[in-house]
Amino acid sequence: MIEYRNLRVALLGAGSVGAQVVKLLLQHGDELAQRSGAGLELVGVAVRDLDAPRTADIPKHLLTTNAEELILGADIVVELIGGLEPARSYILQALNSGADVITANKALLATHGPELFEAAEQVGAQLYYEAAVAAAIPIIRPLRDSLAGDRIQRIMGIVNGTTNFILDRMDTAGESLEHALATATELGYAEADPTADIEGYDAAQKAAILASLAFHTTVPIDKVYREGITAVTLDQVEAAKKAGYVVKLLAIAERVTDPATGVEGVSARVYPALIARTHPLATVHGGKNAVFIEAEAAGDLMFYGAGAGGVETASAVLGDLVSAARRHVIGGPGVAESNNANLPILPIDRVITRYQITLSVVDQPGVLAAVATLFSEHDVSIETVQQSVAPLAPAERAGDTELGATLVIGTHQAAEADLSATVLALAASAVVHSVTSVLRVEGNE
Ligand code: HSE
Repeated sequence: MIEYRNLRVALLGAGSVGAQVVKLLLQHGDELAQRSGAGLELVGVAVRDLDAPRTADIPKHLLTTNAEELILGADIVVELIGGLEPARSYILQALNSGADVITANKALLATHGPELFEAAEQVGAQLYYEAAVAAAIPIIRPLRDSLAGDRIQRIMGIVNGTTNFILDRMDTAGESLEHALATATELGYAEADPTADIEGYDAAQKAAILASLAFHTTVPIDKVYREGITAVTLDQVEAAKKAGYVVKLLAIAERVTDPATGVEGVSARVYPALIARTHPLATVHGGKNAVFIEAEAAGDLMFYGAGAGGVETASAVLGDLVSAARRHVIGGPGVAESNNANLPILPIDRVITRYQITLSVVDQPGVLAAVATLFSEHDVSIETVQQSVAPLAPAERAGDTELGATLVIGTHQAAEADLSATVLALAASAVVHSVTSVLRVEGNE
């Protein structure tokens, strides 16, 4: 029987993930020790309320309300409290004392990542965060290690399960957004306050983390362009379906050449977009997550699985625990976060993308030409046009005109600034009743 040296593990937080980490660690401690080369001794679990209900039993003697005392003397601290404070202070305390830290805290990393990585580097400790993006899906380690020798071109992620569940219900069951959100809440996908999910804040934090890693550049959360799904209508989803697309909330991190200066930079953005139903991301249904990576040498890769859930997220935390333990066994300083590329972060108007625009127009000679002129005046090239004619609502009739037309126009790639100027010009045009839908189209042409 091999005698392993014991590493002291302190856990902060015993919510749905923390309780599962305790359960698995106590259940599989021997196996994890064999894989790590060190025993993982859970020395305590810091909680706010000793008597709160838990999703898994935690031995009472492990519970404490004194997180600061628990951190003292720990070799590895696992932060699963969430939120900015006191999580930030606890992590800094742990790192400054030389402990490795494991966190699932995306909000904290997206907001204070550089400060935490700097603190880790100062003492040669390591900050692990596999669970912070897409929970069970291994994506941080593949980006940081497996793809470190490659050059990433673009990442497109479905990294929020709640919004994917809602958009999928709209697409597959024809539910309105409100109805699908109510279903998501009923089934426990959506929080009581779903703002962070449906307004895209959660996905934006993950986009910041992915972009920073992929492009070796610190991408702060306030540089991530964000639109949520609240303006997506069932009409848009159904029209997308007929046209061979599906609407997904995408977190995109992309290497972009600034059309104005020719300088290479990074774009990080979150918005609902159309992707072709033949794209691998279109097969991601329900509350599942997936991250699609386009790399120069590796080509296209997709990572798929559970992006939330207590036991699923615990899997990623335990993987980090084994990594941290192995590092302690080998010794030496942690690997610093790589941000040496320091690329400029481009605002949304410098991004090159495609649009699909739906217009309600007057059905008269010359209207199509007038609309096409507005596109060409803004340097936007039209790829496809589909027209259908239907009687106009009485309020929209002008003179003898009783028929109106719906135009669905797909563009080639163009600068976002030119595309948005085109939409403004269309909205102001006398031949256009209304611009009824504007969605970006993502995925290769
Ligand atoms: N609320 C997130 C989701 C999971 O719906 O995917 C945690 O990031």
